Amino acid sequence: MKPVILDVDTGLDDACALLLAARHPELDLRAVTCVGGNVGIDQVVVNTLTVLEAAGRPDVPVARGAALPLLQPVRTAAHVHGADGLGDLDWPRSNNIAEERHAVELLRDVLLEAAGKGERVTLIPLAPMTNIALLLRTYPEVVDGLGEIVFMGGAAGIGNATASAEFNIWTDPEAAAIVLSAAGALGVPLTMYGLDVFYDVVISLEEAEALGGSPSADLARALIEKRSRLYKSEGASIGDGGAVCAVIDPAGLTTSPFPLRVELSGSWSRGRTIVDTRDWSGDLSSDPYGPAPTVVQVSTAVDGRRYADLWLNTVS
Ligand code: BDR
Ligand code: CA
Repeated sequence: MKPVILDVDTGLDDACALLLAARHPELDLRAVTCVGGNVGIDQVVVNTLTVLEAAGRPDVPVARGAALPLLQPVRTAAHVHGADGLGDLDWPRSNNIAEERHAVELLRDVLLEAAGKGERVTLIPLAPMTNIALLLRTYPEVVDGLGEIVFMGGAAGIGNATASAEFNIWTDPEAAAIVLSAAGALGVPLTMYGLDVFYDVVISLEEAEALGGSPSADLARALIEKRSRLYKSEGASIGDGGAVCAVIDPAGLTTSPFPLRVELSGSWSRGRTIVDTRDWSGDLSSDPYGPAPTVVQVSTAVDGRRYADLWLNTVS
């Protein structure tokens, strides 16, 4: 089994990701850490505990992390996820409680424990990367237990929060820049599951309506139905769930290595991920204009049907 940690701002599509990660037999979900994003941090924690309970995994440790981005106010996304972040569904909320440890402490403990056993954990941030930036700056020694980071965020093409920027990166651009720089310096491989593929793993309404018979399948159906209504479409993408699919089944994702930077200023481009597609012929040090940026595996295409089937088979 592959050990993984999810960092979430649950969120309808984070919920799709959690159901998959909590239930897939090849994943060992060691912890889930929460950060403010789609909704405020307290609601993220409740939502996360609720989804894990529906998945039949109340045993997974959940911790509350950063409430605010490093430098700017939090800007939530109730227009995409509902006021409660879970689509304002009539779904009973969990009474389970989160760890007393802060998310950064839980991340450190789980990663160092893995390092002690000679294991490497895959970290899957699906939200603003505030917790991850704090972790890598505070406890860089966790690198010994960190195999790779596969994050949802950014785009080579257009944005969603703004014309330029994707929501997770736009919410905390400084954190994303720190993660790129720290992971690059520590030698942690990075994969960007960005907007270029994010919308391409689609569950049809017909497929969603066939789900049911367990709390996990019932919630999965409700999530897709709600996202379909919000987008006024006959189906919906599993969003963040695709990044978990990519960890389970990397062959379904096409990636290419590109230098990546985060725009930290700019009137209309703050939070944009700049994917440098120029031909460097493998020699980044030949850039005369600045320090070599971190090279990231950037997702360029996804086998949406393959990942949709993976999700449906796991959550049902
Ligand atoms: C990302 O933003 C959030 O609203 C979603 O949960 C996803 O992580 C997409 O831009
Ligand atoms: Ca998210």
